[in-house]
Amino acid sequence: MSDSKIPAKPWSGRFNEPTDAFVEAFTASVDFDRRLYRYDIRGSIAHATMLARAGILTQEERDTIVSGLEAIRGEIEDGEFPWSVSLEDVHMNVESALTRRIGDAGKKLHTGRSRNDQVATDIRLYLRDEIEIIRAEILRLQQALLDIAEREADSVMPGFTHLQTAQPVTFGHHMMAWFEMLERDRGRLADCNGRLNVMPLGAAALAGTTYPIDRHYTAELLGFERPAENSLDAVSDRDFAIEFSAAAALVMMHLSRFSEELILWSSAQFGFVELSDSFCTGSSIMPQKKNPDVPELVRGKTGRVFGHLMALLTLMKGQPLAYNKDNQEDKEPLFDTVDNLKGCLKVFADMIPAITCNRANMRRAAMQGFATATDLADYLVRKGMPFRDAHEVVGKAVAYCVEKRRDLSELPLEELQQFCGDIGEDVFDLLTLEGSVAARDHIGGTAPDQVRQAIARARERLG
Ligand code: ARG
Repeated sequence: MSDSKIPAKPWSGRFNEPTDAFVEAFTASVDFDRRLYRYDIRGSIAHATMLARAGILTQEERDTIVSGLEAIRGEIEDGEFPWSVSLEDVHMNVESALTRRIGDAGKKLHTGRSRNDQVATDIRLYLRDEIEIIRAEILRLQQALLDIAEREADSVMPGFTHLQTAQPVTFGHHMMAWFEMLERDRGRLADCNGRLNVMPLGAAALAGTTYPIDRHYTAELLGFERPAENSLDAVSDRDFAIEFSAAAALVMMHLSRFSEELILWSSAQFGFVELSDSFCTGSSIMPQKKNPDVPELVRGKTGRVFGHLMALLTLMKGQPLAYNKDNQEDKEPLFDTVDNLKGCLKVFADMIPAITCNRANMRRAAMQGFATATDLADYLVRKGMPFRDAHEVVGKAVAYCVEKRRDLSELPLEELQQFCGDIGEDVFDLLTLEGSVAARDHIGGTAPDQVRQAIARARERLG
């Protein structure tokens, strides 16, 4: 911050005393809202262009303003802009620099506008871009999941409920579950973008403006679908930021659950997957350690994103219409959510293709815990037994196996027949892991053929 030549505050007219030094720093937002500079300048250029077309500025004034703003943008990008805390925020810093640079025409830029509609516009422009970047990153992760699902369409692992062995599934099927969750996440973000794409400019401070502005034209220049219908609503609500945060929290919740699985699966006890060395770290004391830091950190960062959602909801809940300074507090949680979400998605999309599966370990684990017990019950049902009776019979067989320390598929036919005389040689086809997964052969099921079809449909959906 360089405050050597402190320009007057644009609102200083009715004040007789300078702002208290601490209050100045306390109320300033420029340290964090300066990241909106590109959107602020873009909005100002559109506003000036509209003012000129409406005859409120001359074409020459508009052109001087636009080239001044472009020069300021260059200065900011070169790191040479003298940001000043006493000018409070990005809006007043840019406007004041413009007037210093081009003189009186700069003072006309704020005609028919307020920082209230200006900031609401800036955040919407910013979020609109970030959402598209985030959606592209989700897509990249989804593509990685499709590739790994294809590679592991036949790999059998235990499927869990209550983290207890339930039924065999394929690793490919499991990956496609994550694909589907992310597909909904991407859709939610698109919905959010659809709703936020309306333009606050023209609402001015809260009630609109007395100048003959053309809001449709400004909206068109900025790529907004339309001007916001109500000026009070346009400057005061931040529901679009909350909606984005909620969608972001759901993405993080998914990534966190996924992380939890990767952490479990890469442990010596599970040994289902190995993460690439480049995504793990070691221990300074235990030489054998290879820690899954990346998924752990993603799981950890989920907490702050949830927290930001709660912060934004709480920020809004007590505010009467229209704009209140409280709203300045929307930016840090929002920026932090965007940064962390992008970071987590990037690291996941890079990490997933580098996962290797230990098929033998997954198979061995699937052999423990009687994963095919339901298949035996279904077999008995096909032989004519009511399902509840079959459930009971298989339960007894499992208890017998527990005692004998054997899997159902390892019992000789005669021993199986002591539980039900109808059991025949053909039972062994489905007591195997491969038989069990292949039998779940319908849309949404875990059969390798179905998984391949699901992948093909998903690729088609993604286009
Ligand atoms: N820095 C402010 C914010 O982030 C800009 C709007 C200020 N408007 C006002 N009337 N004080 O919300």
